[in-house]
Amino acid sequence: MCLEQIPSSLAVGIWQADEMAYELLTLERRDDGVAVVTLANGKVNPLSRELLRELCQVTVELAADLPGAVVLTGGERIFAAGADISQFGGQEEAAEIGPLFHDAIGAFAALPRFVIAAVSGYALGGGCELALGCDYRIASDKAVFGQPEILLGIIPGGGGTQRLARVVGPSKAKEMCLTGRQVKADEALQIGLADEVVAPGELHRRALALAAEVAKGALQAQAITKRVIDSGLSTSLNAGLALEREGFVEVFGTDDSQIGVASFLAHGPGKAEFTGA
Ligand code: COA
Repeated sequence: MCLEQIPSSLAVGIWQADEMAYELLTLERRDDGVAVVTLANGKVNPLSRELLRELCQVTVELAADLPGAVVLTGGERIFAAGADISQFGGQEEAAEIGPLFHDAIGAFAALPRFVIAAVSGYALGGGCELALGCDYRIASDKAVFGQPEILLGIIPGGGGTQRLARVVGPSKAKEMCLTGRQVKADEALQIGLADEVVAPGELHRRALALAAEVAKGALQAQAITKRVIDSGLSTSLNAGLALEREGFVEVFGTDDSQIGVASFLAHGPGKAEFTGA
């Protein structure tokens, strides 16, 4: 997983700030260092080609001026209803839509910051896959997850066959993807698809509080940790441990490692004030 997944046409550096206008999502940068991306594509938030392009664009904007953490959320009743089914056609369309999904979701997964999905209501198909591309999922107790593509006679195309299997294990992923069964919040928590379940009124408060806490942390060390965990998951244990050894040396080159260690020795645990450098 890496930022190279962002399409080269959207690469950092060529993107002009005054061109960044979104019609199908909003981006809010908060004073506490948290960036909030909210899907805003009508009542059901279908992940149309246009919205997927905007999701790519917003990751480029975030990568160009990294926040401390990111919260990704959708509508209250529907987080996202999946791919825009009205844009499906034959194999030609599929060959265009599939890479768009992988680019958009892969770009969130590759952001070197903690990305939290705050899921209220239905997260189906690409909506579930978008949540799976985030590092952590907080769900309202009204949330419903599912990969219903099989009911359309197709398969997940936004990473669901791979990320869902890595999160809930291959047998549960196969059962969900082969039946299209929807999973309510309590079961999602039990199988690890949701990391926390909260009352609907608490969802955004909890996601923002966790993001704000993380945003105050040692951001370079967080980025290295995320990279090593994600890279390690797609390799062998020994190769992953080699990545960790490299990251462990790399992190001692950051200012925050010096601040953190000195603060511990002088004042005890948890008192360091990190700079993010
Ligand atoms: N793509 C395009 N349009 C969609 C859509 C999608 N993924 N999901 C819903 N819509 C449309 C419906 O066709 C309907 O359009 P209409 O008002 O013109 O008839 C409208 O959104 C409302 O949907 P509806 O099913 O009536 O709303 P609901 O509240 O009863 O159910 C969902 C909402 C999300 C649970 C349900 O629409 C659903 O299951 N959607 C499809 C999910 C899916 O299969 N995703 C995977 C796609 S590969």
